[in-house]
Amino acid sequence: MRTRKKKWTDSELAQSKIIKFYDDAVTQKGKWHDFFETTDDIFLEIGCGKGRFSCEMSKKGKFMIALERDSKVIACASRLARTSYDSPQNLIFVNAEAEKISEIFAEHELSGIFMNFSDPWEGGKKLEKKRLTHNGFLENYSKILRPGGILSFRTDNAALFEFSIKQLKESRFEIIRISEDFHSEPYFGETPMTEYEIKFAALGNKIHYVECKMKALG
Ligand SMILES: C[S@@+](CC[C@H](N)C(=O)[O-])C[C@H]1O[C@@H](n2cnc3c(N)ncnc32)[C@H](O)[C@@H]1O
Repeated sequence: MRTRKKKWTDSELAQSKIIKFYDDAVTQKGKWHDFFETTDDIFLEIGCGKGRFSCEMSKKGKFMIALERDSKVIACASRLARTSYDSPQNLIFVNAEAEKISEIFAEHELSGIFMNFSDPWEGGKKLEKKRLTHNGFLENYSKILRPGGILSFRTDNAALFEFSIKQLKESRFEIIRISEDFHSEPYFGETPMTEYEIKFAALGNKIHYVECKMKALG
């Protein structure tokens, strides 16, 4: 779904203190713990959309980096964080593409990656490469995650889910939780719902969920 530019989009992008743009984000590579002034775990959400998930995670005390390529959308996320969450110190939005994450994060810098309702890129083999759960992306995620780091993915799209499971089974990730009806699981609620999740669950769509751990090296 396309997000229209709002009358406040440009000013939000210009004035926000909680958005980093690509050129600035790459200078933080290997220094994200210094940026947050913490030794705690840092988590990345890829394709954060309008930001609810990362805002709620930051409210739980997690250090969150929320990546989004669409500047109109990240402006909405920044506005949400500013107006409804008081611009948390443990949250930063990064306006960049997932394709660039190896330029933004150093090896083993992150403890977890969340992908929520990623674009399905339907329409044939060629487009599959753009899916955020394609093995090309998974390889990059395994480099920036620390050993034992977590990868979490949720979607209401059964075909995308099936594709993602196949890719994960051939990757360096080990599946530790899997569900075709996430909202009926006892662990549902450990992490917040996203904007898309609220919308699709209200329509009665089943939410699929998989959580993986990086396999030990060796
Ligand atoms: C379907 S929306 C889901 C938004 C949010 N995660 C949610 O669940 O409500 C997918 C988002 O991912 C972003 N996105 C898609 N591909 C991306 C990429 N390669 N790098 C960064 N963001 C991406 C899109 O711009 C869009 O905002």
